[in-house]
Amino acid sequence: MNERDTLKINGKGHLEIGGLDTVDIARQFGTPVYVFDEKHIRDMMRVYKDVINEDYCGNGLVLYASKAFSCKAIYKIAAQEEIGVDVVSGGEMFTALSVGFNPDKIYLHGNNKLVSELEFALDNRVGTIVVDSYREADILDNLAGERNIKQNVLIRVNPGVEAHTHAFIQTARTDSKFGFSVSDGSAKSMVSYLLNKRNLRLKGFHCHIGSQIFEKQSFILATEKMISFISDMKDRHGFEAETLNLGGGFGIWYNDEDPKLKLDDYRDYVKSIIDVINNKTKELNLKKPYLVIEPGRSIIGEAGITLYTVGAIKEIQGIKKYVAVDGGMFENPRYALYQSKYTALLANRANDVCTEKVTVAGKCCESGDIIAVDVALPIAQSGDIMAVLSTGAYNYSMASNYNRNFVPPSILVNAGKAEYIIKPQTYEDIVRNDIVPKRLK
Ligand code: LLP
Repeated sequence: MNERDTLKINGKGHLEIGGLDTVDIARQFGTPVYVFDEKHIRDMMRVYKDVINEDYCGNGLVLYASKAFSCKAIYKIAAQEEIGVDVVSGGEMFTALSVGFNPDKIYLHGNNKLVSELEFALDNRVGTIVVDSYREADILDNLAGERNIKQNVLIRVNPGVEAHTHAFIQTARTDSKFGFSVSDGSAKSMVSYLLNKRNLRLKGFHCHIGSQIFEKQSFILATEKMISFISDMKDRHGFEAETLNLGGGFGIWYNDEDPKLKLDDYRDYVKSIIDVINNKTKELNLKKPYLVIEPGRSIIGEAGITLYTVGAIKEIQGIKKYVAVDGGMFENPRYALYQSKYTALLANRANDVCTEKVTVAGKCCESGDIIAVDVALPIAQSGDIMAVLSTGAYNYSMASNYNRNFVPPSILVNAGKAEYIIKPQTYEDIVRNDIVPKRLK
């Protein structure tokens, strides 16, 4: 058994998460519901933190990429684990700050940050801002000057590494909307531009090559390119980067096409990066940079599952069988966006043999409202509880009220107890911001 396994099947043949029976969770909290295992989350945060402490003399920081799942409780957990966070909007920044997250350990990202977000970041002394455009550099320099602040910044660099993942979640291809490319010289120009900004302190560089990546070689290659870039900038501008932020992207298991990684495998990803840094900095006579990594999916993805109740079942003879659940693209848009694959099982009959392949559909008024295709299941019946696995990352965070459905609540399981970390929405929440202008009354 993998030490990261958060799931098991109990004596009743029910699926358990973090030691709790999912059928009981479904009964107590209703469905659909996102369920997270706190121990799994903390173990993942620790494995990254420990490897930097043990193999890189603590000269670095793990940031939880909170776009994967953002809510107050997760920032509290990150703070307790003494890691930092990466945020990409005023909303994520506000959520982190609202639970007293140390602003020094917050890194703000975004290819088109709003002026109001930059102001908010400066007013709250957010530690580092990752600059992604000339416009942003100008605005930020002015805003920092007005406030008498010298703001720490990194440059988002595009090292041009193509990682094998879905085209939409690759971010460092040469045609990406993110960052400044090394190959066309724009990253180099941005360095001299920022070095001339009075109110900005250039600390170093950031890159992120994509998400759901398993190939170690992609991370190694990106690290090599970034260290070469650091060396080049030292030679050209006399600027030696103090910080190197290599982003996130480590893959997780969704279905049997994916490897099931152990804690040691994640440790190894970071160790390989550290090896490259150690070797290359020695070779090029550079100082070892402060190493920042930003895993999101690998911290929270496999820690979460979604529980549903099976509703309508429809078989189109000889073509396909739909098993519809009480969720859909409003709470998991990843199939619609990326044709993502998932594993599902009947949580109340988890030992039953899978005898057919079905399409798991949602309840939205849209044919593309599919959660997963080709899912092996026992013959499902209305009322069964279905668990879809590895839904902790980018499910809640990409959910919407499409069709005015409720975004499901989130439950955190710890030491045999389950409690809300995001409460259920109500019809009142759905209409909360609606206004009927007087003339329509
Ligand atoms: N750092 C930066 C700058 C990023 O853009 C991302 C993810 C991360 C870190 C975290 O990457 P991770 O460790 O989670 O792979 N919605 C898509 C994923 C988009 C990822 C965007 N950036 C999905 O559902 O697959």
